[in-house]
Amino acid sequence: MPTPPHEPHPILTSVPARRALPACAAVVGLQWGDEGKGKVVDLLAPHHGAVVRYNGGANAGHSVVIGGKRHALHLVPSGIFHAGVGAVIANGVVVDPLTLLHELEVLHGNGIDVSSLVLSDRAHVVMPYHKAEDALREAVLSGGGDRADTSIGTTKRGIGPAYSEKVQRSAAVRVGDLLRPEVLRERVELACQFKRAWFEAVGFDCATLDAGAIVDTYARAGEAMRPYVRDTFEHLSGLLSRGESLLFEGANATLLDVDHGTYPYVTSSSTTTLGIAAGAGVPARCVTSVVGIMKAYSTRVGGGPFPTELADATGERIRERGREYGTTTGRPRRCGWLDLVALRYATRLNDVSVIALMLLDVLAGFDELCVCTRYRIGGEETDRYLPDAAALGGVEPVYETLPGFEGEITGALRAGDLPKNAARYIAFIEEHLERPVGLVSVGPDRNQTIVRL
Ligand code: IMP
Repeated sequence: MPTPPHEPHPILTSVPARRALPACAAVVGLQWGDEGKGKVVDLLAPHHGAVVRYNGGANAGHSVVIGGKRHALHLVPSGIFHAGVGAVIANGVVVDPLTLLHELEVLHGNGIDVSSLVLSDRAHVVMPYHKAEDALREAVLSGGGDRADTSIGTTKRGIGPAYSEKVQRSAAVRVGDLLRPEVLRERVELACQFKRAWFEAVGFDCATLDAGAIVDTYARAGEAMRPYVRDTFEHLSGLLSRGESLLFEGANATLLDVDHGTYPYVTSSSTTTLGIAAGAGVPARCVTSVVGIMKAYSTRVGGGPFPTELADATGERIRERGREYGTTTGRPRRCGWLDLVALRYATRLNDVSVIALMLLDVLAGFDELCVCTRYRIGGEETDRYLPDAAALGGVEPVYETLPGFEGEITGALRAGDLPKNAARYIAFIEEHLERPVGLVSVGPDRNQTIVRL
């Protein structure tokens, strides 16, 4: 006989329901990044009171193309282009002040009003020695001699070392510390002392460990950022109390999540919707809709397993047609067929409500399109994703083949303008992911977006 469901304890049923919160939304990448999140955030932003970054740092590269002009953002939320919409960098982000100030200067120079930016005083700071440490770790891991290359292929933006420092605590610098010279000096001196010990031990250049010069530069950067620095918990909580809906902009992507990605070939933050509550200081239940962003194929930058990778002319064709070169580092991206096993996992993990299918135009002109629907491992087939690099490295993709579609689709304005086989490709994705595809992007510009209702 089935066991009846458990009854809640009366202490839980006797209290009044918690206050209602405005319905907020999140945009999150479902693959290994570079899915086109910036474009979707830009599209949704006018419907929200603020766009909030909650994870990652300047390793992210979000581009928004407006009137043919490409704007590349690394730290500033992609909602910045809309007057009346706030832009918030919350506590979970690691901030490189020099990159942020440069980005703000470029935006300002392009006539964009950046005064709505709010930066958390509790966001951690990426210091120059974090970038040096990132490079040093990668150099050590890349082997030489007898060791195999186990480097992660990071963006070398200091992300991992900055998050490590945060968790280590004593020598970490937060944005608010840049405004307190004595605290800043104490922390930087301590950090330099720790780093020097191990940089010297491996014969690494200690030029980035000049504490005095660092304090001067970063205290100045802190002053330049002062107008934006706030307690973002209070700020976001105030917006929610006033009934404003927030849009959370995930950076990097699901398969790079530090807990749920292809560990250790991941970034160092919680990239999924699961990271929003901690990274922004908001109740998790305020996120009621999740837009999952996916490309019509797969790409990956850096190391790590990639079951559907195409190291051949087809992969090269996707790379060239999709301009698959990193926004942050310029590195050529690894390209491959769509992996629905990985996408099903990402869809469930983020509790995706609706999918935005990006870069469909890149697949125009192929005779056939392969889509991975299962993995073969040890002679058995499975539809289960394996979020562990060693396990995933051992799988072989099992493909289904769909007919390709002819001709360019970059001018398609409505779902009905798409060729029959393009519509079939979309329907195949919807069927396998059990989620609707609500947006289809057929080119980089804002207006090259089909809304499917
Ligand atoms: P890190 O975030 O610089 O430490 O890099 C760790 C891994 O995540 C590397 O494979 C990077 O290429 C990858 N990565 C980090 N951020 C992004 C992103 O925004 N898009 C694509 N790959 C990324």
